Amino acid sequence: MKILIFGAGGMLGHDVRDVLVSVGHNVIPILRTDADLCDSVAVTHIFSQHPDVTWAINCAAYTAVDRAESEGELADTINGVAVANLASLCQKQGVHLIHFSTDYVFNGLGKAPYLETDICDPVNRYGASKRAGEVAFFESGVRGYVFRVQWLFGRYGVNFLSRISELAKERGALSIVGDQWGSPTWTIEIARAVLAVIAHEPAEGLYHFASQGYTTWFDFATYFLKLQNIPCTLSSISTEAYPTPAKRPLNSRLNCRKFLDLDIFTPLFWEESVKEYLKQGETRCV
Ligand SMILES: NC(=O)c1ccc[n+]([C@@H]2O[C@H](COP(=O)([O-])OP(=O)(O)OC[C@H]3O[C@@H](n4cnc5c(N)ncnc54)[C@H](OP(=O)(O)O)[C@@H]3O)[C@@H](O)[C@H]2O)c1
Repeated sequence: MKILIFGAGGMLGHDVRDVLVSVGHNVIPILRTDADLCDSVAVTHIFSQHPDVTWAINCAAYTAVDRAESEGELADTINGVAVANLASLCQKQGVHLIHFSTDYVFNGLGKAPYLETDICDPVNRYGASKRAGEVAFFESGVRGYVFRVQWLFGRYGVNFLSRISELAKERGALSIVGDQWGSPTWTIEIARAVLAVIAHEPAEGLYHFASQGYTTWFDFATYFLKLQNIPCTLSSISTEAYPTPAKRPLNSRLNCRKFLDLDIFTPLFWEESVKEYLKQGETRCV
């Protein structure tokens, strides 16, 4: 299958590319230098260069969650307007599109894991820009899938684990937020889910996808540092005690039953995926 990957140089894009290539798909990685997603002429040109493409995967996004509070327009342009353009192009060309969104489309005040049908109320500016992208995707009538994912870690990006590992070695004592709940999700697992979706083409639409099991940032950090035998004194603190420019949800848990019921790929529990991630090699950007 010939597949375009936008954002192929990002943390998720890199792994999606590697996994699809490993099974023989003909992957065309698109970097910002090939086509800025906000430049509709450049994006149209990419499609005209590859008229035989059947799938496009959009891993490109504005992902600076805190900076989005002061760069809201830029976040909207990349995560909303550019997605609308990409989805409409794919719809016209008959190309299936896979796009990614976030748990931050919810306000985090719910008591249960969120379902795809739950009402969106973005917790921050980044979440609002990603919600605009979801709406644009479905308004375009494009065929394909939107996956809401969360708490990503992977070899090709700076992420919570790479930062914790670096800070623990540097300081020997850390305070980590212990009242936010979610599922740490390895980017390779998302790439495997994408592979399964392309192979099986299940019912199109919106899906939540994350590792199995839930935890807090504090327990996630504790588990990771212990596995690596990095000595560090960790204290659990509240969200209130750790103010950030962008609000974070207390309940980020996604209910992934809709995806699991497809029975095409079962993600690992988050603890297993951390072990697998460590087996596959150190993070690149620590
Ligand atoms: N990371 C998480 O914890 C998390 C959580 C929930 C949802 N998500 C979603 O998952 C997806 C993948 O995230 P990620 O963590 O892999 O992101 P990432 O590592 O920040 O990668 C994003 C990629 O998008 C590219 N990009 C940004 N603006 C662009 C533009 N205007 N034109 C072309 N390319 C552009 C970036 O290129 P440059 O390097 O050139 O800027 C980068 O390669 C995104 O949709 C994100 O919203 C991520």
